[in-house]
Amino acid sequence: MEKKANHFSGQLGFVMAAAGSAVGVGNLWRFPYLAAKDGGGLFLIVYLALVLTFGFTLLASDIAIGRRTKKSAIGAYTEMHPKWKFLGVLTFIVPILIMTYYAVIGGWITKYAVIYLTGASEAAAGDNYFTAFITSPVSPVVYALIFMAVTALIVYNGVRDGIEAVSKWMMPILLVLVVIVAVYSMTLQHTDESGQLRTGLAGLRYYLTPHVEGLTVGRFLQILLDAMSQLFFSLSVSMGIMITYGSYVKREVNLNHSVSQIELFDTGVALLAGAMIIPAVYVFSGVEGMSAGPSLMFISLPKVFHAMGKAGGFVGLLFFVAAIFATLTSCISVLESITANCVEVFHTERKKTVVTLSVIYLAASAVVALGYSLFYFEAKLPNGTTGQLLDVMDYVSNSVMMPFIALLSTILIGWVKKPSFVIEEMESSGHAFRRKKLYTVMIRYIAPVMMFVLFLQSTGILSGIFS
Ligand code: PHE
Repeated sequence: MEKKANHFSGQLGFVMAAAGSAVGVGNLWRFPYLAAKDGGGLFLIVYLALVLTFGFTLLASDIAIGRRTKKSAIGAYTEMHPKWKFLGVLTFIVPILIMTYYAVIGGWITKYAVIYLTGASEAAAGDNYFTAFITSPVSPVVYALIFMAVTALIVYNGVRDGIEAVSKWMMPILLVLVVIVAVYSMTLQHTDESGQLRTGLAGLRYYLTPHVEGLTVGRFLQILLDAMSQLFFSLSVSMGIMITYGSYVKREVNLNHSVSQIELFDTGVALLAGAMIIPAVYVFSGVEGMSAGPSLMFISLPKVFHAMGKAGGFVGLLFFVAAIFATLTSCISVLESITANCVEVFHTERKKTVVTLSVIYLAASAVVALGYSLFYFEAKLPNGTTGQLLDVMDYVSNSVMMPFIALLSTILIGWVKKPSFVIEEMESSGHAFRRKKLYTVMIRYIAPVMMFVLFLQSTGILSGIFS
């Protein structure tokens, strides 16, 4: 730890890097999809309430633990309590798994940015374009390797000169791009074959209005769980990343403000992503056109861009460039967290560690990129879906491990170590921790219960009980 000349320059650099990690495909494709599915404004209200309570609790905990121990997950949990080292190791496994597929998704996005750059947007709107692309054995591998190599290069350059330097310009540009596309989206209108006129503003209204018609308790619980798992993934908590980033924050930085700013940035981009995607999809295909996950970004949106006519090619380019920035800054946070843990555990030199990990992950990314061609298989997942290699990695890390880790860490902080461990760190810069009472109640009582329910739900155990 004495060789941690590795630091963020100050609050701004830290907030931009942390927001860079938080803002990712979760904001761009998952949030809008869930909002459209889960009652528009109703989902937004539930989500906002959770950000301010639950999200804040988990984010503050991770960052404070990092800064207090000056270590990454394995070292940090060991220092908190030697018997809880296993939790550090479990946490460390999450980025290890995520890293195998995140560059593959980044590669897909890069490919689409290139499509719009070269004016091939018509082809991309074709029905089988995306499937043909990911099932080819060459192109997805090449793009994944490029994305992985760029990620590695940035991490190689260090925390301040690599990660912070890149995040400081990418994140503001991303924000501007998202605002431009959102405003454009609201001005759209289109008359379909039946003569019905749909406007972007009506789409926006659909997005913002709380739809409570026919709401049941079970359905509300579902919305609550959707919002919770989304929030959790979106803030990059419980995977050790924010612990690592926290360990690079200088003592004098006000963590209270930092946490609020990261939440604001992440939630702001999510809300704007909804305002950009939902009206556009609504105008050209009705809200029924909102599909889940990758198919929203790579199949539905290219059709929408195509329907926009000439402007669509340009709007598509802006959108995919924004998506590259979002994914790249998340990807580097994953690699950084793995690197930091390895340096701590194996006492290796940082740059050498990055090189070694890069070689490993170039190979891993290639394998996962081939998961739709050479290594194709269909796995039945406990939550009822079928998936390929990438989905299996995603399921294990996000649906099984993350809620489990969050549950255990709330017990460690709330009951074994006591909330004062985090509170003291939040106040150590001499600034007041205003949401102290809320924090204590959340970390000891509410968060553990919510995480337990979420764990049961996302592993499919809950629906097993009720069926
Ligand atoms: N938080 C990112 C998002 O919302 C995703 C992410 C996953 C980031 C894993 C880092 C690690 O998309």
